[in-house]
Amino acid sequence: MSEGRFIAFEGGEGAGKSTQTRLLAEALRARKLEVVTTREPGGTPGAEAIRALLLGIEGDGWHPRAEALLFAAARSDHVERLIVPALARGAWVICDRFVDSSRAYQGGGGGLSDGEVMELHRIGSGGLLPDLTVLIEVSPDVAEARLDARDSGAADRIGGRSAAFHAKVAAAFDRFAAADPSRFARIDGNGSAESIHIAVIAALEALA
Ligand code: TYD
Repeated sequence: MSEGRFIAFEGGEGAGKSTQTRLLAEALRARKLEVVTTREPGGTPGAEAIRALLLGIEGDGWHPRAEALLFAAARSDHVERLIVPALARGAWVICDRFVDSSRAYQGGGGGLSDGEVMELHRIGSGGLLPDLTVLIEVSPDVAEARLDARDSGAADRIGGRSAAFHAKVAAAFDRFAAADPSRFARIDGNGSAESIHIAVIAALEALA
């Protein structure tokens, strides 16, 4: 593991992505690697401003196409200003969600076609894909218990959508991982944070 790599964590709400982002960053830093941790939507001032627009909106929320455009715009700023420069200097970038979230939420959940989401990604971010996308899969019960502990039931605009919406998101992630096994590592996220972290490291060793 000597060159910079781009790793994304994906999964539904309460999968434990942010904990795994932190644990992986600590493990790589212990190997003396430069690590940049970031998240989507967000990661740059412009993208964080778009995040506030996306997750804080009142009323009926954004139309799915407007929502997809805003995620793509936030991602574009994030890719151009933070991710690409970090990779260019040899850093490892670990991102909590990336374009597969748009494919799953705005595509699978929101009804855009996968081609449309990827076209926005091509225009905004040159179609950049992670070297490895770690999909953490948890049962709905485990996810719900973790979210209750984290948010005390106060989910954001997208996280708080119906169980049917989240089932479509999970099914979409499942399809993407099955279709592209060389880019995706699927990890059972129902266990302890430490056991999941060990599985993440094993998936990375296969990449290195
Ligand atoms: P966040 O608080 O980061 O949620 P989580 O902790 O579950 O990752 O909020 C991000 C929300 O935005 C989450 O519900 C997933 C959604 N999202 C999309 O719908 N499309 C996207 O492209 C991204 C990156 C996130």
